[in-house]
Amino acid sequence: MARNYDSQPRVLVTGGAGFLGSHLIDRLLQQGCDVLCVDNLFTGSKRNLDHLAGHPRFEFIRHDVTFPLYVEVDEIYNLACPASPIHYQHDPVATTKTSVHGAINMLGLAKRLRCKILQASTSEVYGDPTVHPQTEDYWGNVNPIGPRSCYDEGKRCAETLFFDYHRQHGLEIKVARIFNTYGPRMHPADGRVVSNFIMQALRGEPITIYGEGQQTRSFCYVDDLIDGLMRLMASPADCTGPVNLGNPNEFTMRQLADKVLALTGSKSKIAHRPLPPDDPRQRRPDITLAGARLGWAPKIQLEEGLRPTIDYFAGAHVG
Ligand SMILES: NC(=O)c1ccc[n+]([C@@H]2O[C@H](COP(=O)([O-])OP(=O)(O)OC[C@H]3O[C@@H](n4cnc5c(N)ncnc54)[C@H](O)[C@@H]3O)[C@@H](O)[C@H]2O)c1
Repeated sequence: MARNYDSQPRVLVTGGAGFLGSHLIDRLLQQGCDVLCVDNLFTGSKRNLDHLAGHPRFEFIRHDVTFPLYVEVDEIYNLACPASPIHYQHDPVATTKTSVHGAINMLGLAKRLRCKILQASTSEVYGDPTVHPQTEDYWGNVNPIGPRSCYDEGKRCAETLFFDYHRQHGLEIKVARIFNTYGPRMHPADGRVVSNFIMQALRGEPITIYGEGQQTRSFCYVDDLIDGLMRLMASPADCTGPVNLGNPNEFTMRQLADKVLALTGSKSKIAHRPLPPDDPRQRRPDITLAGARLGWAPKIQLEEGLRPTIDYFAGAHVG
């Protein structure tokens, strides 16, 4: 790509054909940025970018981030990585490679270009946490050899690489620890609770709840999350993170199921299944740091976010 000094920042989004990446691209284009999306379409889809066909400031490259990439940009958001257990456990070696080799390749690119780079890390770096809610100074409780380790440890190693490039090469880095996020363009079969409940309700199938459904989760609507990522990218250079981004409001699985049933008008029944042994009772971010450094807090309430999400699934994938 030839440099054009008159234009708005050129932003690279890896994983841009995925759920979060495609929303981020929409917002960057709205702000007038030039956007280059790089994705190997492993879990993402060109459908998520269909509406951008012919957009003069948007470009797509099919590329696997485990291989080096030579482009000219001003900022990098590194989101490429399968994010749900079904997808990241499909080829665990590829998952670790995507996190680790992908981080090395994107950090190498940022080093060459002397540009800012943001890493989409995850609450999973806290593993099975022993403190609630999780603050960024908690080092986590992660199994290094289990079936989830390819994701958890891959993301932890990526964070290590980001901070080593920062200390060793003076690179400007931003690390976001993203908690459970939902919204339109989520993969309908990713096995996550929001998409599961909505799909079951829309199909009139029983809504499966593990145990009594008293375990709690917190859910961040995608628009809030993208706002947090963009504020982090725009923050002063000393604001490296890691910073938690998520919605601290907790809901029991039963409450979530009831909301989905009410909003879809579905006649689905609740079906209780035995509680899996490793099902956490609670997961909730402490977002004090994001409030203090980024002036960020989620604004969209669960019901408000569930409506467009349900509309998306109803229109795109069911019936
Ligand atoms: N959605 C969440 O709740 C959540 C929570 C924590 C962290 N995250 C992180 O945010 C990022 C985006 O997640 P998402 O929910 O949009 O998932 P997603 O699966 O919808 O998007 C990931 C994208 O990365 C692409 N990708 C995967 N491997 C690649 C590779 N080797 N080379 C190039 N592209 C590749 C996929 O095709 C997909 O488009 C991920 O890094 C994920 O770990 C998401």
